Amino acid sequence: MDLFSPVTLGELELANRVVMAPLTRMRSGSAGVPGDIVVDHYAQRAGVGLIITEGTYPTPEGQAFVGQPGIVTDEQVAGWRRVAEAVHARGGRMVLQVMHGGRVTHPDVNGGRRVEAPSAIAIDGAGHTERGKQPYPVPHALSTDEVRDVVAAFVRASERAIEAGLDGVELHGANGYLLHEFLSPAANRREDVYGGSPENRARVVVEVATAVSAAIGAGRVGLRISPEHNIQDALETDPADLRATYGTLLDQLRPLGLAYLSVLHREPAGELVQELRARFGGKLIANSGFSSPTTREEAVRLIEAAHADAVAVGRPVIANPDLVERWQGGHPENVPDPATFYAAGAAGYTDYPTLALSRS
Ligand SMILES: Cc1cc2nc3c(=O)[nH]c(=O)nc-3n(C[C@H](O)[C@H](O)[C@H](O)COP(=O)(O)O)c2cc1C
Repeated sequence: MDLFSPVTLGELELANRVVMAPLTRMRSGSAGVPGDIVVDHYAQRAGVGLIITEGTYPTPEGQAFVGQPGIVTDEQVAGWRRVAEAVHARGGRMVLQVMHGGRVTHPDVNGGRRVEAPSAIAIDGAGHTERGKQPYPVPHALSTDEVRDVVAAFVRASERAIEAGLDGVELHGANGYLLHEFLSPAANRREDVYGGSPENRARVVVEVATAVSAAIGAGRVGLRISPEHNIQDALETDPADLRATYGTLLDQLRPLGLAYLSVLHREPAGELVQELRARFGGKLIANSGFSSPTTREEAVRLIEAAHADAVAVGRPVIANPDLVERWQGGHPENVPDPATFYAAGAAGYTDYPTLALSRS
């Protein structure tokens, strides 16, 4: 297959297989409302086959970053509607990544609210807050009923994303945030139906995917996972447990017919990812993680070898609003500037030049 050929993921019709990976950029202000520069940023990148938005909180408790957008208030929905309209006007497709930050936050980030997690175990480390770096607090262990409230919040957020005109949602089950905390035996020490065995630890993700699919249609729902990522203390160090947990998860998701599974793993072509892909039985978006930015060669190879149906590309899309055109034509790329990844304002956000601008 060719990286630049169209592909259909559920109800999502992509013009090419270069997908903009979800990228937190913290530019939506204290009210979490995407404004003008966010509209411009995404519209500039509409040439990718699919934009996956930055992680967006479904409840105020789930806010993990200062300046992160939400999909809770009417103002937030209206902000996302402007983004969706701008992307659609340029022929793009876009899904909203629904992300509950779990214990990877602090009351100085989420408006003084409680910090929620499967178990009352703090991350060993510090997070960036309004008042500088602060140690992560011991989180509130959600009760069984409160876990069900979280499932309902994912449904509500997904409905609101559709109401805002987005093409679908991606459920964030990766990178050590709430859903991943449930999967990890290190972060989840629960003794109810949501903890203990691999089946129980996978349960909340199955319930969220099932309920969101019932609400907006499975063909508009994707899931991101990052097995063995071992980030933010959501450790998965026992290979047998890892296979059992993700195996049962994907076996149970298979009949739903989700639009896609997105996997962040250092070896997308390796045995683990390919086994999970087979058990899922649907389309795979691959990404090899943070160690080095995705290259054109890597993306081309993954698609040509049929190791994935599409490739999620992060940092190169930050720096190149017209990345598909550059990759297609073999043109040079702008270099991403990590100092502006999480900064404020337009610098390093909407001011990376296109090829046309570089030439003029
Ligand atoms: C600045 C930045 C923000 C990110 N934010 C998110 C996020 O909100 N949700 C998510 O699932 N992954 C997030 N990631 C991970 C990316 O989606 C991607 O997996 C990672 O950048 C590796 O891909 P790359 O080598 O193409 O950059 C982020 C990465 C970076 C660099």
